[in-house]
Amino acid sequence: MIGQLLRIEDLHKTYPGAEHPVFDGFSLDVEAGCLCALVGVSGVGKTTLLNCVAGLDRWESGAIRIGEEAVPDSAEARSLYRRHHVGLAFQLPHLLPEFTVRENLEMPFRIDGALTAEREEWISELLARIGLADYADRLPNQLSGGQIARVGLARALVRRPALWLLDEPTGNLDPATADEVFALLLQLHEELRPTTLLVTHNPELAGRCERTVRLGAH
Ligand SMILES: Nc1ncnc2c1ncn2[C@@H]1O[C@H](COP(=O)(O)OP(=O)(O)OP(=O)(O)O)[C@@H](O)[C@H]1O
Ligand SMILES: [Mg+2]
Repeated sequence: MIGQLLRIEDLHKTYPGAEHPVFDGFSLDVEAGCLCALVGVSGVGKTTLLNCVAGLDRWESGAIRIGEEAVPDSAEARSLYRRHHVGLAFQLPHLLPEFTVRENLEMPFRIDGALTAEREEWISELLARIGLADYADRLPNQLSGGQIARVGLARALVRRPALWLLDEPTGNLDPATADEVFALLLQLHEELRPTTLLVTHNPELAGRCERTVRLGAH
């Protein structure tokens, strides 16, 4: 699936026991297929927003929709929603250590019991696109940090999600490697056009996105 309109309407979110809400009526539309940087000071709620959009966390009131579909309430329905619509990647992609790079990329399909020949072909294509065709049979501990970051980005795209949610995906890398991985990120986005929220503390990287949203700015 390609990207669809992401619509966040009047979001209210307070963590249990917290004195102040993280979101007190926050709204945002992100156009279908847009690469949108999400910036703002530490603690402003960037990760919280990704977790809500991903259906990993709940909020008190307001709605989040991707295309026609609202993020559902029940944990079960949210897990299905995630599987269908969401690709997530974090600063430290937790690859499964006992599985090869190829197996890690196959895992979303293996979990569904739906690894077809066509999908294996797609994984091979993804491996080539991230420049790791020759590393398919390696284990994660035989990869560099930059290579792990590449696999993390690709794993989030295996199911061709409508939403690509990235929390500082290059935050753990040295500047030169971060730059290479970011170039790959731009290329993958251009090719697959998922609607993307990219959390970054790096203004230069944010400047290379189509749009920047600053949380906490009034
Ligand atoms: N599980 C939690 N329980 C209670 N409070 C939380 C929880 N997670 C985050 N918070 C609080 O919610 C606020 C927003 O946190 P969040 O992690 O979303 O910030 P952030 O913008 O991602 O920050 P950073 O740039 O440091 O990653 C912070 O005040 C944080 O302390
Ligand atoms: Mg965060």
